Amino acid sequence: MSQPFPDTPLYPQLLELIRLNCGLTFGDDRRETVCRAVQERMTQRGIPAPESYYALLRREGEELQALVELLTVNETYFFREPDHLNLLVDTLLPELLNTHDPSQPLSLLSAGCSTGEEAYTLAMLLAERQGVPRPFPFTITGIDIDSHAVAAARNGVYGKPSFRAMDPRMKERWFETAGHGAFRVRDSLRQQVRFEVANLLTAPNTELLPPPAIILYRNVSIYFPQEVQLRIFRQLADLLQEGGVLLVGASETLAHDVGILPLLERQGLFYFAKRPAVGIGDRRSTKRILSPPPPNVTSPPTAVPPTERRQPAPASRHPRMAVPVDTDPRRTFDNALVLARTQRDDEALALLGDLIERNGTFLKAHGLKACLLLNNSRYDEARTAAEAMLELDPLCREACLLLGIIARHRGDNDEGFRRFREALYIDPDCWLAHFYTAEILFNRQERKRALGSYEAALRLLHNDTLQDPGQAFFPLAFNVPQFISICRHKLSLLQENG
Ligand SMILES: C[S@@+](CC[C@H](N)C(=O)[O-])C[C@H]1O[C@@H](n2cnc3c(N)ncnc32)[C@H](O)[C@@H]1O
Repeated sequence: MSQPFPDTPLYPQLLELIRLNCGLTFGDDRRETVCRAVQERMTQRGIPAPESYYALLRREGEELQALVELLTVNETYFFREPDHLNLLVDTLLPELLNTHDPSQPLSLLSAGCSTGEEAYTLAMLLAERQGVPRPFPFTITGIDIDSHAVAAARNGVYGKPSFRAMDPRMKERWFETAGHGAFRVRDSLRQQVRFEVANLLTAPNTELLPPPAIILYRNVSIYFPQEVQLRIFRQLADLLQEGGVLLVGASETLAHDVGILPLLERQGLFYFAKRPAVGIGDRRSTKRILSPPPPNVTSPPTAVPPTERRQPAPASRHPRMAVPVDTDPRRTFDNALVLARTQRDDEALALLGDLIERNGTFLKAHGLKACLLLNNSRYDEARTAAEAMLELDPLCREACLLLGIIARHRGDNDEGFRRFREALYIDPDCWLAHFYTAEILFNRQERKRALGSYEAALRLLHNDTLQDPGQAFFPLAFNVPQFISICRHKLSLLQENG
């Protein structure tokens, strides 16, 4: 009798084939799932030998597609993460419509739409706010790699779990009974949404898919390794219209905040936009986590999310000010800090350069320099600055964290992991190191270890250790509640999939 596929040396090759085809990766905790799917396909095709089945997968794209379809996670429901959807239809969309050519429908895309609940939710919200004029001024498209999910989406018939977050009055308005406890989307709504089978990993067919003004790409990237996440995000960013908005799931934001699109914030919610000018009016609530201003300087105006600042700031934004060189290193550092907080990174870096030249052992000056360079995507220089910190103090927790974050931005998760572990050796209570360790474990699909690390981060975040001035200069993209909500969300995903 043949060995089960996962016990053969072909198993890693099979996983690689799947990853190359659709981006999905499977850790040891999902070995069973892969095993079941492979067995089902081998039985269906009447192929008992793993070697023959693997050869078939390599030969026949359709077979690989059939296997992938057994491995996708299609979990979805109407009105999932509704805060972002409300922000979209109530605030961002009206702004987009102001600048949109009214003779053209505005295009929305649900990327990784699964069985269609997200795309129909958009259609319902738009119809509720705008009515259903003919012609409907929007095109809503859902795409997914899974042809069965797409067929179900086109069919538009749903059972109870899909309605778990939906107001029953909405259900009444937009659905009719379909027997056996199921409900069908009413035709008037169904006609407004179309669904296509498409692989996000391959370049989008722009004939099928007009450039969208809004992309929802939520709860899809969590199943991809980091390099796939970035590749797909870049493609979606290219596809997005100028001025358009791209939403990812709350827990996915951090991983995509890598400078491809600026991250903006409205009403405490984060979203990516193709042009920094979109919706910058209301970002006051985002605070960069920095130490309180030193007593001898006035507080700078609004702090801007550092994520936005990773796009190099246009030189004209702030007139260059001659910053007096102070002979007191502490005061020079404080001045650099004020400049950094007001987005005058070049001036802050110049001041720090002077300071370090005169006083090379000023650890915090190296730290602020590394953060600013990191914020500006100058990774090599940021690493040199962080390494200088380690030379000054081999047990510098902040240097390890910075080196870990820089490694992540460069896509080197192994190095990142090593650095975050070092930070934890130095300080086992460092929530940021626990958090990033958890993110890497999550991406590696090491479920149990990821759970433990998110739990540790959450516990420490609740203890409010952020006040610790040692973490004062980190280029954190999120405020504490945001980190807490990401940890909670990831924990619930890990528990759901357990
Ligand atoms: C968990 S569902 C998310 C559904 C919906 N976006 C939501 O937030 O509720 C993830 C979907 O991503 C799809 N998917 C995974 N890899 C894909 C790929 N390479 N191209 C297109 N869709 C993919 C899966 O088939 C699955 O239906």
